[in-house]
Amino acid sequence: MRPEEPGDRLLFTGAVRSTASAALPSTVIDIWQANGAGLYSRFAPDLPEWNLRGRIRSDADGNFAFTTVVPAPYDIPQHPHASRVLDLLGQEPHRPAHIHFKVHAPNHRELTTQVYFAGDPWLDHDVVGAAKPSLVTELRKATDTDNHGYTRRFDFVLARESNDHESHNVAVT
Ligand SMILES: [Fe+2]
Repeated sequence: MRPEEPGDRLLFTGAVRSTASAALPSTVIDIWQANGAGLYSRFAPDLPEWNLRGRIRSDADGNFAFTTVVPAPYDIPQHPHASRVLDLLGQEPHRPAHIHFKVHAPNHRELTTQVYFAGDPWLDHDVVGAAKPSLVTELRKATDTDNHGYTRRFDFVLARESNDHESHNVAVT
């Protein structure tokens, strides 16, 4: 995130662990999101090329943290063919605000997911139908003095590659 990035600050923390509850250190976490106006770098003009896209690693205990801004909801591009399909389906082009994650640890199934925020007006009308209740988390007003506007903790649980159970994520309340 640019130091001058417009929007409400968000300190996002969590941990990565296995389905056997073992901490997964040094797990690679890819993160990408729209900005506070609902725009993605590499799609919208006038944004730095890799703005609000990054890759971090969990620490020795599987914990991670990053500071960003709260993303805004957005509408998918209104190409004529896409609009026609949405019309036929009776759907609108809205996506509730979300942050994308891809989590990969050695010998574990890769997890690609999105985290949404409670209270978003489009949660029940996500055009791609991806806003499952287990992925919706509640932003909290920060109480520390670090000048973060909001905080959120969210954990990711990865299944071993040989395990039939799918990797998933867990909202920590
Ligand atoms: Fe997105």
